[in-house]
Amino acid sequence: MAVGAAPGDVVWQVGDGATDLFAREDASPPAPSPLPSSDFAVPRAFLGLVRHAILHRDPERFALLYRMLARLRAEPKLMDDAADPLVRRVEKLATEVRRDIHKMRAFLRFREVDDGAGPRFVAWFEPDHHIVRANAGFFLDRFASMRWSILTPALSLHWDGTTLSEGPGAAKGDAPSGDPIEDVWKTYYASIFNPARMKVGAMLKEMPRKYWKNMPETALVPGLIASAQARESGMIATARERVGGNSRAAWEALRDEAAGCTRCHLHKHATRTVFGEGPVDAALMFVGEQPGDQEDLAGKPFVGPAGQVFDRAIAAAGIDRPDVYVTNAVKHFKFEKRGKRRIHQKPDAGEITACRWWIEQELLLLKPKVTVALGATAARALFGKVMTIGKERGRPHILPGGGEAWITVHPSFLLRLPDRDAAELEFGRFVEDLKAVRRQLK
Ligand code: URA
Repeated sequence: MAVGAAPGDVVWQVGDGATDLFAREDASPPAPSPLPSSDFAVPRAFLGLVRHAILHRDPERFALLYRMLARLRAEPKLMDDAADPLVRRVEKLATEVRRDIHKMRAFLRFREVDDGAGPRFVAWFEPDHHIVRANAGFFLDRFASMRWSILTPALSLHWDGTTLSEGPGAAKGDAPSGDPIEDVWKTYYASIFNPARMKVGAMLKEMPRKYWKNMPETALVPGLIASAQARESGMIATARERVGGNSRAAWEALRDEAAGCTRCHLHKHATRTVFGEGPVDAALMFVGEQPGDQEDLAGKPFVGPAGQVFDRAIAAAGIDRPDVYVTNAVKHFKFEKRGKRRIHQKPDAGEITACRWWIEQELLLLKPKVTVALGATAARALFGKVMTIGKERGRPHILPGGGEAWITVHPSFLLRLPDRDAAELEFGRFVEDLKAVRRQLK
C-alpha cells in the first residue's frame, strides 16, 4: 500500500514458510499501478476485524483484506456499510475465526502424562483456522502453574512453567488417549467457568460432533442432564473459590465466552457481542433491551442516544454511572437494513430466552443488591415472563433466582414521545423511579 500497489496488481501466495511466501520477490512482478500516495488513517474497527479475519483458512483472506484497505482509503465510512458484500465477507471470516477460538477454549481436553520430568498435561485439538498462536495467551494465563503441551496438525505449543515454545505439527496418535484426568478437567472448567455457564443440553447442541470424540464425559450425558442444575451451582461455587474471590477474573472469562456466543442467529449480523460493563462489585445493575447501532460499533452498552438519556436520568437521581453495572437482556444488535441505515428491531421471545443465560450468569456473579429492568424486554428476561411496566413500576420485586428488582421504562421510550410536555413529564417519572431505587440501596 505504501508504494501504491493496487489490489489487482498484488499476487498473494500462501506457503508453508518464508521462502514460499516471498518467492515472488525475485520474479519480475507486474508493474504496480499507483494509488494516491497520501497517508490515510486506518479505522480502529478495521484493525479489529483484520486481527481475526487474517487467521482464517480461506486463501483469499490477504487479498480481501488488502482490497478492503484500498477501498477504505477512498471510502473512510466503508466499515459502517454492513450490507457491502466485501465488508460482509470479511466480517464473516472474522466471525468464523472468533467462533473457532471460542471452541478451542471450551472443548480442548488435557490428559496427564509423565514425561520424565514430572507431570505434563497434553491436549490434542484440530482447529478449523490458524488460531493456535492467537489462543496461546489464553492457555498461558489459565495454566501458568502446570507444564502443558497443546498438539495440533499444524503446530504444537509447549509450556514448561517459564517458557512457551513452538514445535512442529502433530498427529492425534501423538497425544495420550483415555479419559482426561478428573482434576485437570475440573481445574480447566472451573478456570474458564464453562459448565457453570452452559446448560448441558445446550452445550451438547452447540458442540459440533467432531469434538465429541475427544470428550469422554459425553458418555455421561443422561446423568449430566439430570444433575445439570446441581452441577452448575457446584461449579460456580468451585470457580468462585478458585479465582480466590476474584470475581473480576470470572467475569472476564464470562465476557470472553459471550464474545463467541452463537446461541441464536443474531450473532450472524451484528458486529459483536456487547457485554455488560461496570464494577463487578456494583450494588446496582441496570438491564436494557439490546445494543443499538452505536453500541454495536463501540462494543459498549448505552453509549448512543438512549444512553445519553439514561446518563442524564441517573445523574438527576444522584447515581454515578461508574458505580453501576450496565448490561442488556440481549447482547447482539438486531436490526433491519434500510439503505445504509440499520434500523433497530425488537428482539423476539426466542432471542430473549436464548440470551437469558448470560444475564443469569451476570446476576450470579455480581449478586447486585438491586437490579433495574429498563423496559419490557429487560423485565421479561429477568422474570422469565411478560411483565406490564405500568402495573409493576415503582415497587420492589423478587427475582426468580433471588435478589431484588425494580421495573421502569426504557430510556428510548422517552425519546419516542412526540410531545415535549409529555416527554418532560415522563422523564420526571423515570427519575422518580430511579430515586426510589437509590433510597432502597441505602
Ligand atoms: N438500548 C438498550 O437497551 N441498550 C443499549 O445498550 C442501548 C440502547
